[in-house]
Amino acid sequence: MCGIVGFVGDRPAADVLLNGLRRLEYRGYDSAGLALMGTDGALHVVKQTGKVSALAEKVRKAIPRKEVRAAHVGIAHTRWATHGLPTEANAHPQVSADGKIAVVHNGIIENYAAVRAQLEGRGVVFASQTDTEVLAHLIAAYEHGDLLAAVMEALRRVDGTYGIAVVSTEHPGQVVVARKGSPLVVGVGDGETIVASDVSAIVSMTRNVIYLQDGDVGVVTADGVRLYGLDTSASVERPVASVEWEVGAAEKEGYEHFMLKEIFEQPSSLRNALRGRLEMNRGTAILSGLNLTPRELAGIRRCVIVGCGTSLHAGMVGKYLFEGLADVPTSPEQAAEFRYCNPILAPDDLVIAISQSGETADTLAAVREAVQKGTVVAGLCNVVGSTIARETGRGVYLHAGPEIGVASTKAFTSQVAVLLLLALKMGRGRRLSREEGMTLCREIEGIPGLVEQVLAQNERIAQVAEKYAQVRDAFFIGRGILYPTALEGALKLKEISYIHAEGYQAAELKHGPIALLDESVPVVALLNDIPGKEKTLGNVEECRARKAPVIGIVTAGDEAATAAVADVIEVPRTSSYVAPIVTAVALQIFAYHVARLRGCEIDQPRNLAKSVTVE
Ligand code: AGP
Repeated sequence: MCGIVGFVGDRPAADVLLNGLRRLEYRGYDSAGLALMGTDGALHVVKQTGKVSALAEKVRKAIPRKEVRAAHVGIAHTRWATHGLPTEANAHPQVSADGKIAVVHNGIIENYAAVRAQLEGRGVVFASQTDTEVLAHLIAAYEHGDLLAAVMEALRRVDGTYGIAVVSTEHPGQVVVARKGSPLVVGVGDGETIVASDVSAIVSMTRNVIYLQDGDVGVVTADGVRLYGLDTSASVERPVASVEWEVGAAEKEGYEHFMLKEIFEQPSSLRNALRGRLEMNRGTAILSGLNLTPRELAGIRRCVIVGCGTSLHAGMVGKYLFEGLADVPTSPEQAAEFRYCNPILAPDDLVIAISQSGETADTLAAVREAVQKGTVVAGLCNVVGSTIARETGRGVYLHAGPEIGVASTKAFTSQVAVLLLLALKMGRGRRLSREEGMTLCREIEGIPGLVEQVLAQNERIAQVAEKYAQVRDAFFIGRGILYPTALEGALKLKEISYIHAEGYQAAELKHGPIALLDESVPVVALLNDIPGKEKTLGNVEECRARKAPVIGIVTAGDEAATAAVADVIEVPRTSSYVAPIVTAVALQIFAYHVARLRGCEIDQPRNLAKSVTVE
């Protein structure tokens, strides 16, 4: 997803902007650019397809060093193409015809074609295929000495979503920002102010941040930011929050990739997710952020879990947890499908929105649809202050720390762990006994240690990965709670190694997909020693009869399952409820090593974005 950085201060803006873009690279992009306020009253605009490093090199060549050092105001952008190819002309900043105004934008201007036609009818010549360029020309059209007013006038004429930063040579000491649907955060430093798409670009400079909300428009200067409402033009106050991250959390700290670091962080991230939330002597969980009384929780008749990608897979695991532990009918829904199907909801339903970033457009829209229907809505997010976290108004933070790798790993296991806590809590409000709850509490408390056992298999799993690193297709099969786990394993492999991998219910293979099996198509079978294993072993035999090599995820010591497969990845013995977590970690490691052996760009896979804030 696009990344925005803006700066006003008393030091070279280029350093801040380029460092900020580097910290936003994980969001996924295909081109980058920046605009610096020149000392000669003109803007220096440099844009480049490809990586931020290529942009930095081009800045060095295009602008005299003295001028770069003297420019203390600027904006910058990494573009994930939505309208128009990844070309230099389509890269941001987009500039007004007179070259005085530059805009960087994250989001989609939905009525850009009509606005563009109007502007072209007035003689404006466009230089790009982007929707963003209409903003640059509109702001120029309304610029009569007040940049803030001009930006407001322009934004009142567009539909869609935006996070924008704007500079003008007529107002050299300021950056105007605005937010509707795409996050923007302002970092308030000592005599300097930075604005960015998320805190990872800010946290190395200051922990004091202001989260803009939809409809906010602001003037950023070296002294901070003044915010106003787009609808009312009235002044708006937003609280200054303190970022809890450690600066190093957004660094690789010796790992080759962020993804590998985040895989190995999981014992710690799971401890953070569980910390203070297990009440061992009562066999229940403490989830105060839900803001639901025991009576309200007991009154929930049905759960609907909405999410996308990995978060949807966590929600699918949640179905088995909620129905198995709390007898609460639960329906996981793909968020985009949910928002457009006119969902049937009742006031005593609970809708849970799962989103690591808290900014995924489809999941946010699903939240708004559920709120519209008068349902109780809770968020399971990792990013504090994110839009979904704020708009649900209740929920449970993962506390997993920043997840930089585009492929989600520690967020998934923490999402499942939090869902397990919620299932325990709801179960104890129904038929789950104190003793059963205490037993489960003890197992949950032991999850980080179980994950450590899986991590200890890293080298062994890498050896298995080496055998299969060059395949073109693969299947992942599982039953019951291991089916969504199989989907997640397939997603990990496909999104970082580009191997076509499919997750399937184990029983479903013989109803068609088995036609694709031969000796070149490996099948990863989730054979944890939990109910359903014997049936899946039968499916494994069907695969072997078609000469497909089978990789078994096997409970340590299970000789029968080990004998049934070509290669084994062992996981510790667990209940059904914890099996998805230890199995997912094994599958993350497998996918990582396959992608590494294939020389893939693991942290920023092609075509992908960390947070999909567009439909
Ligand atoms: C998972 O590895 C992917 N990065 C993607 O499927 C992701 O889970 C999905 O886009 C949802 O993101 P969210 O959790 O931030 O809402």
